Amino acid sequence: MGLHSLLYVSESTLTLPAEEWQVDVIIDVARSRNSALGVTGALMFTHVNFVQVLEGSRPALEELMTSIRRDPRHRNIRVLEEEALAYRRFATWSMAYLGPAALVEPKIAPLVQQGGRRVDPFATEDMICLLRSLTAMGD
Ligand SMILES: Cc1cc2nc3c(=O)[nH]c(=O)nc-3n(C[C@H](O)[C@H](O)[C@H](O)COP(=O)(O)O)c2cc1C
Repeated sequence: MGLHSLLYVSESTLTLPAEEWQVDVIIDVARSRNSALGVTGALMFTHVNFVQVLEGSRPALEELMTSIRRDPRHRNIRVLEEEALAYRRFATWSMAYLGPAALVEPKIAPLVQQGGRRVDPFATEDMICLLRSLTAMGD
């Protein structure tokens, strides 16, 4: 089965700090369901946006995205990149979590604001590199 990855950004609808605990619930559910589906990846939460990269078989990613797209804890889900992969970039993570990372918000804001325009492939690659370096993954 071919390996694919999908990168999206979305806007959190969580009221903080009252609903911050919901992020723990998301991670717990993601870790068990992703393991069962053979999906790996990383989730970043900036308090404003979510950025997530998922990698696995196409049917597994489609199944997860059906749930993720209808989840009311975020909105404006914008898939930035889908590509075939030769190897996993988050191989040891059913879902790595990168907590409120206010310092990287300036990198995410331009991706979120690009509306219907084509996303700069360097910007998306940059985001994946950032997620990888923050999860301290080597090759
Ligand atoms: C930003 C965000 C990321 C999520 N990531 C995952 C994930 O990687 N895997 C997962 O199983 N659920 C994830 N969820 C939770 C799903 O939206 C959903 O609640 C869960 O998979 C249960 O699916 P169901 O509601 O179709 O039963 C995420 C939710 C949000 C808001």
